[in-house]
Amino acid sequence: MKLRSMVYEDVPTVTLLDRVDNLRPWTEPMFYEELRLDSFCRVVVDETQTLQAFLVARRLLDEWHLLTLKVAPSCRGQGLARTLMLALIAHGIESDARTILLEVRASNQPAMNLYENLGFLSVGIRKNYYPGPTMAEDAVIMERRTDRKNEFNPF
Ligand SMILES: CC(C)(COP(=O)(O)OP(=O)(O)OC[C@H]1O[C@@H](n2cnc3c(N)ncnc32)[C@H](O)[C@@H]1OP(=O)(O)O)[C@@H](O)C(=O)NCCC(=O)NCCS
Repeated sequence: MKLRSMVYEDVPTVTLLDRVDNLRPWTEPMFYEELRLDSFCRVVVDETQTLQAFLVARRLLDEWHLLTLKVAPSCRGQGLARTLMLALIAHGIESDARTILLEVRASNQPAMNLYENLGFLSVGIRKNYYPGPTMAEDAVIMERRTDRKNEFNPF
């Protein structure tokens, strides 16, 4: 397993992976835009350079916003999301950001567990934020401080 920066050539594969079981997938131009903006874009590849997972976060003033995170279904449960999130937290600390914010579906227990184990706290709800097959679903807003106010150290 290798973590590296996302490059333009990854975008078609990243977009295909993003479409798996996703009611609101990104388009290729959305990923290209984040690369152009120099957002925090990382991928995990295996020893054959097959793309297994990706994460994109964008900086807004002193906050990093997690925009998207996905692990290929066949690669889950191996710590890839944790590796990507630890890289984002380390980057948040190194870049002197105050905090990392994200939204997660209220029903997405695996992701909520992942974030809580890394020191994220629930700080609010966005009602009907996500589209659903029958009805919309709330988003939980989670935050992890990256300044000295956060005593939790996952490293
Ligand atoms: C959520 C997701 C990113 C987790 O990726 P993953 O690589 O399988 O997660 P990891 O192996 O790094 O697991 C890290 C922690 O997440 C939690 N977790 C992961 N999968 C879980 C599951 N099926 N059930 C409960 N908790 C789970 C656990 O706390 C786990 O730590 P542990 O192994 O010590 O128990 C992955 O399932 C995914 O891509 N889902 C679809 C997209 C998505 O939901 N993205 C997040 C949007 S906010």
